[in-house]
Amino acid sequence: MPNSQSEMELQSQQDFVDQVREIMAVRAAHQPPLAHVWTYGCQQNVADSQKIKGMLQEMGFDFTDSPDEADFILFNTCAVREHAEDRVFGNVGALKHVKTRRPSVIIALCGCMMQQPQVADRIRKSFPYVSMVFGTHVIHRFPELLFEALTGGKRVFELPDRQGEIVEGLPVMRESDFKAWLPIMYGCDNFCSYCIVPYVRGRERSRSSDAVVNEAKELVKAGYKDITLLGQNVNSYGKGLPEQVNFADLLERINQIPGDFRIRFMTSHPKDATHELIDTMSRCDKVARHLHLPFQSGNDQILKAMNRHYTRQQYLDLVSYVKEKIPDICLTSDIIVGFPGETYEQFLDTLDLVRQVEFSSLYTFIYSPRGGTPAAKLPDPVPHEEKAGWLNELLKVQEGIAAKRSAGMVGSTVRVLCEEMGKNGEMCGRTSGNIIVGFPGKSEMIGRFAQVHITSSLNWILKGELVELED
Ligand code: 5AD
Ligand code: SF4
Repeated sequence: MPNSQSEMELQSQQDFVDQVREIMAVRAAHQPPLAHVWTYGCQQNVADSQKIKGMLQEMGFDFTDSPDEADFILFNTCAVREHAEDRVFGNVGALKHVKTRRPSVIIALCGCMMQQPQVADRIRKSFPYVSMVFGTHVIHRFPELLFEALTGGKRVFELPDRQGEIVEGLPVMRESDFKAWLPIMYGCDNFCSYCIVPYVRGRERSRSSDAVVNEAKELVKAGYKDITLLGQNVNSYGKGLPEQVNFADLLERINQIPGDFRIRFMTSHPKDATHELIDTMSRCDKVARHLHLPFQSGNDQILKAMNRHYTRQQYLDLVSYVKEKIPDICLTSDIIVGFPGETYEQFLDTLDLVRQVEFSSLYTFIYSPRGGTPAAKLPDPVPHEEKAGWLNELLKVQEGIAAKRSAGMVGSTVRVLCEEMGKNGEMCGRTSGNIIVGFPGKSEMIGRFAQVHITSSLNWILKGELVELED
């Protein structure tokens, strides 16, 4: 049940929903009015965009992939690396001609990037055709903000740096009818020294376990087969809630929901991944055999400078425990190469850890300085090209590991959720461990589980033949 504050917030927005619908019915170039929503960055942003799209739908909008024909354009931005920010600035610049040609279009920006004051200032000064900017803490007030932008005669900048209560009950427009993102908490309290997220997403706050479990039940009832629980650090779920609940308890409760579906979650911080969590994973048959456990660096000094609160050995011990309890686990990780002051020798510790653990895949990043974080003040003498060379070395090692792991699966039969038709006319699905499997199939199979016999492997992708389509 939504709490009373949520209900009040939602009710106060309903008036704006109705008014925007009326305004757009007169003003829009198309009927229904068209919105173009583009999402940068992580799954949390994708989940936020799905809420904004849900609200747009309530306001009578339909959606278009083309900014050129949209009545409303929104970029939901990411601040985690400079490259992501540069792309946003480039793409916002390209919208200038759209506004010149069709002055009635409303251009809006939201998301993590906007929570940085220097970015909001730059938008204010250099991009006058952007008429609406709002931060991560006021998504639930989107109808009100859009109403202001349409009627107030001035640009709307709504960027409070403090979050309020979690607002439950917002509509969600999901793109898929079998795969869903389910946010269980927002914000981050960890302040890893390189990371901007705690500054732009605010402090950790968890949704009540009833709210999460009820949403999961609705998803299962609606036929969803793959539900990913989202949070910057799901392992600290429950802290600060009036109820006594932790992430392992939550997993257990969702696992008890009747139905045939998979539960995934991300991201887990190694310092908070407990044996209780691993034991729960191994016991719960619906929890996917996949654990995303970012270690960032394999060197203790760098881990300390990153403020990660675990050592290389502690990470390796945790991985040993996971492998012992869940032998078919597929581990994935995030790695930062070239943290300020990192030497080649220290990087070799990362490489060595990658060899030891044998991850199924990796998300690798060259360090990107983020203004306002402690790491951005550290001397960073190694040139970018050299870091790129280290990254290449890492990718080569990982390619070999993934190829070896994949080859080891040839001859086995795996359960795959059929997800989409590939360009080559093959069905693409994923195993419980999140490994991609391609096999001859038809689009009618999408959203169903299938047994697939693996016949060959290609780096990290498996190829196979359908044994049986489940019902
Ligand atoms: N530079 C490079 N990578 C970063 N990440 C977070 N901040 C930075 C940064 N400043 C990476 C981390 C994190 C992932 C989501 O993004 O590896 O786990
Ligand atoms: Fe950033 Fe660290 Fe929080 Fe992840 S845990 S969002 S890397 S501060």
